Amino acid sequence: MSTRHIRSKIADGFQQVEGGLFSQVTKADVGEGFAALAQQDITLMGWADPFYPDRIVPEVVQAVMIKEFESGSPTHYTMPIGSLKLREEVAKKCDRYNQLTVDPKRNVIITPGSDSGLFYAMSIFINPGDEVLVPDPSYPSNFLNPRLLGGVTVPVPLEQRSGYQLDLVAMERAITSKTKMILLTHPNNPTTTVFKREKLEQLARLVCHYDLVLVVDQAFEDIIFDDLDFISPASLPGMWERTVTICSVSKGMGLSGFRVGYLIASDQIMDILYGAAVNVIGATNTAAQIGAIAALQNPEFIESYQKIFDYRRKLSFQILSEVPGVSMLMPESGFYCWIDVSQLGDSTVLMNYLIKAARVAVNDGKVYGRQGNGFLRIIHGCLRNNEEAVNALERIATALKKYKPSRKFS
Ligand SMILES: Cc1ncc(COP(=O)(O)O)c(C=O)c1O
Repeated sequence: MSTRHIRSKIADGFQQVEGGLFSQVTKADVGEGFAALAQQDITLMGWADPFYPDRIVPEVVQAVMIKEFESGSPTHYTMPIGSLKLREEVAKKCDRYNQLTVDPKRNVIITPGSDSGLFYAMSIFINPGDEVLVPDPSYPSNFLNPRLLGGVTVPVPLEQRSGYQLDLVAMERAITSKTKMILLTHPNNPTTTVFKREKLEQLARLVCHYDLVLVVDQAFEDIIFDDLDFISPASLPGMWERTVTICSVSKGMGLSGFRVGYLIASDQIMDILYGAAVNVIGATNTAAQIGAIAALQNPEFIESYQKIFDYRRKLSFQILSEVPGVSMLMPESGFYCWIDVSQLGDSTVLMNYLIKAARVAVNDGKVYGRQGNGFLRIIHGCLRNNEEAVNALERIATALKKYKPSRKFS
């Protein structure tokens, strides 16, 4: 069978995907390209992986996991929907943090990380041709996932001048008879925006009025600064029945390697997700679920991570916002910053320039949507310690100050 022949058998949605075997793929999370940079002593500031490459599991989590390993309990599957104990801990967090009262036996499903949960949540709604509105810039998967499912991604721009808050007029204008879903990352990656209550209330009214579904990815909900109000859209009037909320232990808890995420949804939605769970997700790793239970029961360590990320965002702002031609807002959440370099040049060229001139690999804004053209995402939270972060950020600033723009770009 020819290779072309097998390609023609691939489902339409997946035809556009490339994994780096036959062509250079520059996405940080695909292929060997990014990993190869680390071998050359390039500082990686493009992984959304807290404190990478440090290896820290909070002591209390370690102790529980070691004990459970000694007893042999991680040998076996949990239920495909996840361990009840973990679902109970998730329900408690929903109650204390998300303004949501959920039944751990009906409204929670544990997934192997939130990426797979995000895709699973969307897959039960999207028919070929369905349109999905995605604020732009946004998490790259949000642009690809609808298309993998045969749907159509409709980007709706977020503007720096309005602090990247949702533009509900533009959102409403983008709605057609084919619109099925709005896909929101809140807080938003890469802009770090924590969407304001009034914006989310307007969004909720729009979702209800046009009879849409909201899928909201809250992977960064644990890292929010300046006491900003964090509202879970599912808690707003009329939204519980039509929202799937996705969370993770990867970011705020720094347990990305555990691969534990979870979905929260109403009985009607969850009945479908429970029904197909064994087919789609199997079950999440038992040992990792045990660790996640301990982390949710002892969340104090998150506060110390928050303090480090708070320090680093201020550091990034102080060092990078002073570079002529760079403009940025103070990050509102997470452990990265989003900088506008359009006055200096093309963001892909600049990303490649920084690898050579600063020996730092950052993310090209273009992978976060059309609005990311001219931007870089720089992850200050993925380095071992603050000294490394200062050093890498100063190398970036020095290199950008020396950069000679080849042409103006806007
Ligand atoms: C916004 C957002 N959602 C989801 C994920 C996936 O995280 P995980 O699968 O580790 O839970 C990421 C990872 O970078 C992310 O940035």
